[in-house]
Amino acid sequence: AHVDKGGYKHFMAKEIAEQPTVLQGALAHYINAEGTNVTLPDPGLDFAKVERLTMVACGTAYLACMVAKYWFEQIAGLPVEVDVASEFRYREPPVTPGTVALFVSQSGETADTLAALRYMEGKAAKIVSVVNVPESSIARESDLPLPILAGTEIGVASTKAFTCQLTTLAILALKAAHERGKISSTELADKLSNLRALPGILNLALGIEERSSQIAAKLAEARDILFLGRGAMYPLAHEGALKLKEISYIHAEAYASGELKHGPIALVDQHVPVIVMAPTDALFDKTISNMQEVMARGGKVLLITDQQGAKIAGEGVWDTLIMPQIDPFLAPILYAVPAQLLAYHTAIAKGTDVDQPRNLAKSVTVE
Ligand code: G6P
Repeated sequence: AHVDKGGYKHFMAKEIAEQPTVLQGALAHYINAEGTNVTLPDPGLDFAKVERLTMVACGTAYLACMVAKYWFEQIAGLPVEVDVASEFRYREPPVTPGTVALFVSQSGETADTLAALRYMEGKAAKIVSVVNVPESSIARESDLPLPILAGTEIGVASTKAFTCQLTTLAILALKAAHERGKISSTELADKLSNLRALPGILNLALGIEERSSQIAAKLAEARDILFLGRGAMYPLAHEGALKLKEISYIHAEAYASGELKHGPIALVDQHVPVIVMAPTDALFDKTISNMQEVMARGGKVLLITDQQGAKIAGEGVWDTLIMPQIDPFLAPILYAVPAQLLAYHTAIAKGTDVDQPRNLAKSVTVE
């Protein structure tokens, strides 16, 4: 079907704005009408029997896997291994019985991911995929293809596919947690109800667009930018850095906040903006103490947090971006929005080609 920009300046802007709507569709697809349980297509997956999950992908889809690792391990007690497809396929990893292989791909055609899938098929692992294009090679070669229902994504920098991948993976992690006896039916229903509130919260979050564009005007002058996060926010720091690199061509790097002292803090001076992604969660205090180490060395910090977090830690920072309050479990999905909007507006400020960044392709079907 032909897709146009629907009045937006770029496909990327349109796809960012579409997120609440497409997410709602994905939620309705996987959560039953009563909001109490998860429905998977047949043949489903018996998570009680799964011993290990191996997740493989490229680019932004890989970062969705990195987030999901925290979810599956923390709430479902399931050991997870994550790798980029180009490394995984040549590592020749041994595969133990009870391993489920999970591939995440927007296009379903990425050559490295498809090769990794075939490797795992050769090892007789069960193949699950989380894909946007249902008729793609990766979907067709999977035992259990799970659509993310994001609709056609045209901007090279993935946005709505990422949040739909995360949402599908969050639902899967909750189902796994329930089937493995780690959460009760009541807890499952509670978490699913929080998930169902997500489109509304994402809609609110899109309200930071104006502030993002003001901040982006300042970021556009930087040569290097650091992103910091902890726990499931660490992959989001990577997503922020990746998006920014892809479309604004500013060098950006992500670090786990706690790793700062082991090297990257040497980079900090008044010329390097440091973007800290810190919703008020169990690791908030630790992230903030890392942030203060940056400030003590003259670094200028952009703190992305909620009202409560800004109240506790907002003093003396270079700038803040205030996000809606959210269940910490779902924060990685919500914090994709500032990652996207900051990159988008920085690219606009620099005048780069947002939808078709140099040297990049939407789908990489060669090795
Ligand atoms: C390319 C795209 C990225 C995407 C990656 C993986 O590099 O530019 O946006 O994340 O491929 O693509 P896939 O279709 O497998 O998700």
